[in-house]
Amino acid sequence: MTNILLIGNGAREHAIAEALTRSTHNPKLFSYMKSNNPAISSLSADTRIGDYTNLDDINQFAKENRIDFAIIGPEDPLNNGAVDSLQKEGIPSVGPTKRLSRLETSKSFTKDLLKKYNIPGNPKYKVFSSMDGIDKFMSGLDGVVVKPDGLTGGKGVMVQGDHFQTKVEALKHCRKMLEEHPCVIVEEKLEGEEFSLQCISDGITVVATPPVQDHKRRFVNDRGPNTGGMGSYSSADHSLPFMTAEDAAEGLSITQKVADAIYKETGEYYKGVMYGGFIITKDGVKLLEYNARFGDPEAMNTLPILKTDFVDVCRAIIEGTLNTLTIEFEKKATVCKYIVPKGYGLPKDHPDAKSTSEKIEVDDVKDAKLYYSSVDKRKDGLYMTTSRAIGVVGIAENLEKAEQIAEQAVSCIKGPVDHRPDIGTKPLIQKRINHMKEIRE
Ligand code: GLY
Repeated sequence: MTNILLIGNGAREHAIAEALTRSTHNPKLFSYMKSNNPAISSLSADTRIGDYTNLDDINQFAKENRIDFAIIGPEDPLNNGAVDSLQKEGIPSVGPTKRLSRLETSKSFTKDLLKKYNIPGNPKYKVFSSMDGIDKFMSGLDGVVVKPDGLTGGKGVMVQGDHFQTKVEALKHCRKMLEEHPCVIVEEKLEGEEFSLQCISDGITVVATPPVQDHKRRFVNDRGPNTGGMGSYSSADHSLPFMTAEDAAEGLSITQKVADAIYKETGEYYKGVMYGGFIITKDGVKLLEYNARFGDPEAMNTLPILKTDFVDVCRAIIEGTLNTLTIEFEKKATVCKYIVPKGYGLPKDHPDAKSTSEKIEVDDVKDAKLYYSSVDKRKDGLYMTTSRAIGVVGIAENLEKAEQIAEQAVSCIKGPVDHRPDIGTKPLIQKRINHMKEIRE
């Protein structure tokens, strides 16, 4: 019997819990969550609700339940050192130590690592700890992106043309970021199509999972504010419609080089997920950022079609034997659409940005899979919070059918909800293909 501790309480962790519990090893799942996710609870032998900063409580829960290994879903417990603290109790984890999770938590660490080890893919960038020199560096760039150095939940990046127009505004954002963060990164704005490549690493061997495209913008046709992700899709051929085999190979090659560099730099093997946010440009594949965990929503595209036993994958990550395991995925397309409260992602002063919890009803969703995120199960039914509520996933032999399955399921969820009907549809995908064609030409 394998006892596994899962830390996290979102839809991504629901997908992880499902992948673990369908293992032929029949593991017992124990979940540590900051708020109760009813779907994860129903898959768990026991759960504890606690804070991700409370490492003693996490350790205690792990020891009480004789945990064999842990898997950490979100970035916060990684950044808090949950892996290091479990390690001290002799409990290994799928997830990097605090030092190695700087891959996500410190953009300057990752960018400087690529530079030091001559790894391709870095956009032109500079890290600043004061305003000195920012103006001059910006003058040499056609368009700029400014990001604070630290965890921002994917929402701290400011892009010229989207979030601001002029250099004066960019400087204002830098000044504000420097008030709250030790450094700010200024980099060139790149034109292209983005893809997420979630790679699994034991520190030596790095294996790519099928690429996924996420949709950050809140509204149809990529309008509105950036969110944690409104939905995502992946193709049956394990590529993306605008991507070449070389693009995917380049993303993996960069990630393998980064894993090697991390070991050379720190003497520690990176054990967990290296999720690269890449962009395909006229000059090839560039790295936007790494996350030290599965993507949310991307995990919901990837884990449901994983054919290899996920417990074996986790063990291989921990034991450093990924080179001996063949990791396979079903040749299926997936479309994930997030059901969100109508006010999700809107500025606080917007009249629709309500913070009250609202009731929803879920009818028979037929062939779709549902992954619960911020929902509260009360005696009289299911309630949303202010965040993303349910990831609805369609899986089929092609994108068209997968999108239809997801859309059919969305119509079965009743209440003051919203979603992006355009994700995974032909017109939006054709737009991506045309965009990439223009750029390559
Ligand atoms: N898909 C965005 C994220 O997981 O950060």
